[in-house]
Formats: sequence, C-alpha cells, structure tokens
Amino acid sequence: MSTTIRTQVAIVGAGPSGLLLGALLAQAGVDAVIIEQRSPDYVLSRIRAGVLEQGTVELLERAGVGQRLHREGLPHEGFELCFGGQRHRIDLQGLTGGKRVVVYGQTEVTRDLMDERRKRGLVTHYGCEDVAVHDFDSAHPRVTFDHEGAAFELRADFIAGCDGFHGVCRASVPAKALTLHERVYPFGWLGVLSRTPPVAEELIYSNHERGFALCSMRSHSLSRYYVQCSLSDCVDQWSDDRFWDELRARLDPAAAAQLVTGPSIEKSIAPLRSFVAEPMRFGSLFLAGDAAHIVPPTGAKGLNLAASDVHYLSTALIEHYRDHSSAGIDDYSARCLARVWKASRFSWWFTSLMHRFEQTELSGGPIGFKLQQAELEYLVQSPAAMTTMAENYVGLPF
Ligand code: APR
Ligand code: PHB
Repeated sequence: MSTTIRTQVAIVGAGPSGLLLGALLAQAGVDAVIIEQRSPDYVLSRIRAGVLEQGTVELLERAGVGQRLHREGLPHEGFELCFGGQRHRIDLQGLTGGKRVVVYGQTEVTRDLMDERRKRGLVTHYGCEDVAVHDFDSAHPRVTFDHEGAAFELRADFIAGCDGFHGVCRASVPAKALTLHERVYPFGWLGVLSRTPPVAEELIYSNHERGFALCSMRSHSLSRYYVQCSLSDCVDQWSDDRFWDELRARLDPAAAAQLVTGPSIEKSIAPLRSFVAEPMRFGSLFLAGDAAHIVPPTGAKGLNLAASDVHYLSTALIEHYRDHSSAGIDDYSARCLARVWKASRFSWWFTSLMHRFEQTELSGGPIGFKLQQAELEYLVQSPAAMTTMAENYVGLPF
C-alpha cells in the first residue's frame, strides 16, 4: 500500500534547477512538491562554479532570494586573460553596454533557495529512495518513491526532471525518443578552495604551456583556484604544496608574486564534458538543467543555463494554469535548446582556446599551442573579437 499525494507539478531533484523552479511556481500560486534522493547537507556540500549572469540574478530576485546575493555577491565588471607571461583585461561592462556578472557561489544560491522554501512552508521530501517516473506520455504522470520506509505515489499534471546528469528522468525516456550529443575532454580540473585572499580582484583565465589555470573566488577572503590536470590523476597525488607550485608556474610573474597560499579546505578533480540531450520535453515530462545538458566549466555557464531553462519552464507552466495556453509548453524544448547550443558552443570554444591538448588531438601539441597564442593575441587586439567574447560571457538574452 502506498500513500497518494497530489500536486500540480512534481519536481524531481532539489539542486538549483528544482529549487528555483519551485520558488518561481510558488510565487505564481502553482503547487509543486520536490522529491530529492539526498539529504540537505549533501546537496549543500557540492562545490560548483560561482559566476552569475545578470539574467540569472534577475531571476533569483524574482524568486525572492535576491537580498543576500546583493549584500554578499561580488559584482565583476571584467576578467583577465593571461598568456605569454602577461595579463589582458576583458572589459565586460565597456564592451556590452554596461552588463556585468556577480561572483556568488552556487552553494549559496542553493542555500538561499532552501531557506526561502522552508520559510514559505513548501514541501521538499529529502532522502527519497527508488524514485521512479511513470505515465509521462499521458496527462496523468506519477512519481513513486520510498521515504523513511514507507511507499508514496505523487500524482501530478506535469513532471519536471531537475535531477542532474545522473538522474532518473532522462534515463526513463525510451532511447529511441532521445538524441544524445557528447564530448568528453581529455583532461580534468583540479580545484582547490582556500581561506586566503584572492590573487587579484578579477578572475584570471590562464593559457600556459603547462596547462590551463583559473583564479576565482567566493569572497574577499575565500579563493577558488583550478589547474588543468590529467584524467588519471587522483587528489592524493596533489599535495597543497604541489598545487600551489603548479598554479604559480602557470601565472604571469606579477600574479605569481602576489599569490597568497594556505591550507586547502576542499580539493577535488572534475572531468570536463559537453553533453546535450534532445528534445527536452516528452509529453508531460520536462528536463531542465544538468538533466538535459552539461557544459565544461570554462566560462561558468552550467548554472546560468539551468536558470534559463527554469525561466522558460516556469513561464510555460504558469501560462498553462493562468491562461489555459499550451504555447509555452509546446515551445519549451526548442526555446531552451536554441540557447543551450549557443552556450555549449561558447563553453567548448573557450575550453579549446585555453587548455593544452596532446599532439594526437586535432589542434593539439606545439602547433596547437602556437595557434592558441595567435588567437589570443588577435582577440585582445580586436574590439570585435573581445565584444563577441564579452557578450557570451555576460550571457545571451533569455
Ligand atoms: N531522485 C531524486 N533526486 C535525484 C535523483 C533521483 N533519482 N537523481 C539525482 N537527484 C538529485 C541530486 O541529488 C541533486 O540534488 O537531483 C539534483 C540535481 O542537482 P544538480 O546536479 O545540481 O543539477 P541542477 O539542479 O540542474 O543544477 C545545475 O549544477 O552541475 C551544476 O553546472 C551545473 O551549475 C549547474 C547546476
Ligand atoms: C568558480 O569560481 O568555481 C569558477 C569561476 C569561473 C569559471 C569556472 C569556475 O569559468
């Protein structure tokens, strides 16, 4: 025997996509229940990128979670590209007619959305097991799950698959209904979080013969750094000292001299992947965020793409309930994918430009490195090329 629950939208996954969708639907009076397999602490322990486009910031404001973001987030009006031993600034604000980004960790976005949900008394079931989605080719889809030893059935009008890359929603769609596009890059990112002041006020993306490096931050006293590493590396091979030496070696002399080091408080290796699943809607099941697409982290587009999906999906569902219109629902997949492919292209291009590739790869080895230097030199001398980069970095319109 299972207990039946009824809602309008069943949301699978309480990452940023699921939580933001829940918040936007709640603002419009649409009822939603979120089913999450992990605990709140586990969800909050995942460290991910931290650059928010203006459109994402506006969406978070609309969802009622703008206050702390405005208080603690760091507005950035530019970033730096480092190559050939020098840094070159990309003036985001000047090149895009006043747009900028905000540096604010994804963990903090998630925490704010969780707090807001709790304050409003909205339902999230954490620690759910055996989550399964059913009947989404009909108007009466269901989600079944076990929670604290009891079986539940959640009946809804729609299911939002916000359950990330490894989730159950995309995996439940018949293979013949899906087209998957994927590239796994032949290296990883070793990331370190440390309670040290950031090396510079703005982010530094560095192309170096030894490999890519990125200097980012979470606050004025918390730094986030990355170096390109081998996919076969494991974290144990990277002592803090080895990490700092490698990062220093990949920066220009001025930044290297400025770098303040300290004990790492988190260290992990992440693979890089480009992935898109098409389409993003199957009857009454919608995929959003990492469930439908993954971008390599160069340029920090992952969370921002999740936000644009959720914008389209919340608008579509609200129109359905308020105006009895299916226009947004019918257009959902095409609207998302148009933006997803553009951001995927940018992330792939920025990744290709900044990383060291092996001789065996197209545009790899010494000639590949020379071609990258030529492109970077052209880029920082051409207002047209810098504008293209800046427009993509601050985010294409939703
Ligand atoms: N049942 C319920 N929940 C599930 C299931 C399942 N079978 N499988 C996965 N989940 C949960 C995960 O535990 C996770 O909390 O779904 C959530 C998915 O969250 P994310 O992976 O963070 O994906 P999303 O919310 O789309 O966020 C996109 O995350 O990976 C970054 O770069 C990405 O910043 C972007 C953001
Ligand atoms: C991060 O701060 O983790 C970060 C910032 C920018 C990126 C990727 C990651 O492009």
